[in-house]
Amino acid sequence: MNLILLGAPGAGKGTQAEIICDKLGIPSISTGNILREAVKNATKAGLEAKSYMESGKLVPDSVVIAILKDRIAQDDCKNGFILDGFPRTVPQAEALDQMGIVIDHAVDIDVPDQVIEKRLSGRRVCEGCGASYHIDNKPSAKEGICDRCGGNLIIRKDDKPETIRERLAVYHEQTEPLKGYYQKAGKLVSIDGTREIAEITGQILKVLEA
Ligand code: AP5
Repeated sequence: MNLILLGAPGAGKGTQAEIICDKLGIPSISTGNILREAVKNATKAGLEAKSYMESGKLVPDSVVIAILKDRIAQDDCKNGFILDGFPRTVPQAEALDQMGIVIDHAVDIDVPDQVIEKRLSGRRVCEGCGASYHIDNKPSAKEGICDRCGGNLIIRKDDKPETIRERLAVYHEQTEPLKGYYQKAGKLVSIDGTREIAEITGQILKVLEA
C-alpha cells in the first residue's frame, strides 16, 4: 500500500499519518520532519533548506527528491508507506512516477484557510519525535510533554501568523495543482478535513479497504 496524503499546511496530514501507519504497520514519511531534523543537525541538505522553511517557501525539488529517494530505499518501506508532505509540486509527483513507485491512493484532506489559521496557531509539536498536538483539539496528557516519547512540546518556527499566510499562498499556487494530477490518474479521493480526527481516520481507512 503506497498512500499519499495531500492537503494544505495544517490540514491534518501528520495527525492522520501517525494514526494510520500504526494501524497498517507501514512507515509514515514526512519530508517536513526529515528536513527539520536535517536543519537541527546542520547537514548539507539542512543548511540548504533552513531559510526556505523559516519563510514558508518550498525547499527546492532537487533537495527534497533526493531525500525522499534515500528514505524509500530503506528496508522498512518494502511493504509500502504513507507520504505526508510529498509530493508538493508537479515535478515531485513526476519524479515519483519516474522512480517506478505505484501510488494506490492520493487522499486530499480538504480544510478551508480560516480553519487552518486557527489550527496552526494552537499546534504544539514534539521536538523529539515530531508528534503533533493541539492545545484544544488534541492536548497531550501532561501539558508540554509528548505522550509518545516524553520529549518537550514546542511551537514550530513556521507557525507564526505571517508565515502561515505565506505557506497557504504557496500551497494554493504550487501544491493544489496536484489534485488535478492525481484526479487524471484516477487516484484522487477528497475527504472533508473539518470533521473530528477519528471520523477522518475512519473515512481514510474506508478508502483503503475499497
Ligand atoms: P511540513 O512539515 O510538511 O508542513 P506542512 O505541510 O505545512 O504541514 P503541517 O505539518 O503544518 O500540517 P499537517 O497537515 O501535517 O497538520 P497536523 O496534522 O500537524 O513542511 C514544513 C516545511 O518543510 C514546508 O513549508 C517546506 O518549506 C518544507 N517541505 C516539506 N516537504 C516539502 C516538499 N515535499 N517540497 C518542498 N518543501 C517541503 O495538524 C495541524 C494541527 O491541527 C495540529 O495541532 C493538530 O492536532 C490539529 N488537527 C489535526 N486534525 C484535526 C482535526 N480533524 N480537527 C481539529 N484539529 C485537528
